[in-house]
Amino acid sequence: MVSYKELGLVNTREMFKKAVAGGYAIPAFNFNNMEQLQAIIQASAETKSPVILQVSKGARNYANQTLLRYMAEGAVEYAKELGWEHPQIVLHLDHGDSFELCKSCVDMGFSSVMIDASSLPYEENIALTKKVVDYAHQYDVTVEAELGVLAGVEDEVSAEESHYTRPEEVIDFATRTGCDSLAISIGTSHGAYKFKPEQCTRDPKTGRLVPPPLAFNVLHEIEKKLPGFPIVLHGSSSVPQEYVDIINAHGGKLPDAVGIPEEQLREAAKSAVCKINIDSDSRLAMTAAIRKVFDEKPGEFDPRKYLGPARDEMKKLYMHKIVNVLGSDGKAE
Ligand code: 13P
Repeated sequence: MVSYKELGLVNTREMFKKAVAGGYAIPAFNFNNMEQLQAIIQASAETKSPVILQVSKGARNYANQTLLRYMAEGAVEYAKELGWEHPQIVLHLDHGDSFELCKSCVDMGFSSVMIDASSLPYEENIALTKKVVDYAHQYDVTVEAELGVLAGVEDEVSAEESHYTRPEEVIDFATRTGCDSLAISIGTSHGAYKFKPEQCTRDPKTGRLVPPPLAFNVLHEIEKKLPGFPIVLHGSSSVPQEYVDIINAHGGKLPDAVGIPEEQLREAAKSAVCKINIDSDSRLAMTAAIRKVFDEKPGEFDPRKYLGPARDEMKKLYMHKIVNVLGSDGKAE
């Protein structure tokens, strides 16, 4: 058993309280390799932004849980080396699907876990979430839960149809589970294809898909029921069209990929939404940079020559999100 406190990590409690009061959101970036982690830490250290490093079950399977844990521990030291005196870094399990997985993360030094029992019937979601909360809170590890269903595919989480969170359930759910934050469904979804073309309109000038707006009415109703309670948005990549264009121009094939417009995320960040999850955008940035090198320099075979530019592109993306979308820069001086 290792406590996250020994690793220099923090849980989400104080971070979320400040974010809700200050009208900004904390970035939760998924990682599963060294270049992503370097880019996240460089961007967070440079902007002095609190940050949540997210590891999904799929990432644990891909990269090995022990290695990821030590990488996060190393990330704290790396942040200090970059001149960030008091780094505020959370190591978070994204979409835990069982008590055993959540417990194993708590025991291995995670400072926050998500138990996603949103696909279970309501009472079963409450029972499983409460079991995880009871265990995690003994070690001061914070717990994110989910109500409502997000569509889309991400690692091992997938759902065909989404349904919005029911505001009439949130008080009962939060009270009976004791969870520290709540992921809700208001129209975001996982992956690079968040909406089907038939759900969108098309911009007549560019021909690009324009997605339907998020259900801000549902968010506001939830905020009224649970004033000041930390709300989380999953599936919040914007799918930058410049990356999609670079990928498609260099041999890729991502037709009609579409995400959540950044203005809407900016608006959400000003509300009780205090954690915004971004994974796909970093995948797109990395893929675009690598495809470009492969296409333009077919003789290149030193991985540093394509993973390096990929890392730089991801850092640029993370800084943009922190400064221009979430507003978390300077909040962890
Ligand atoms: P995106 O696929 O929109 O990046 O969402 C990631 C996410 O919500 C991770 O839990």
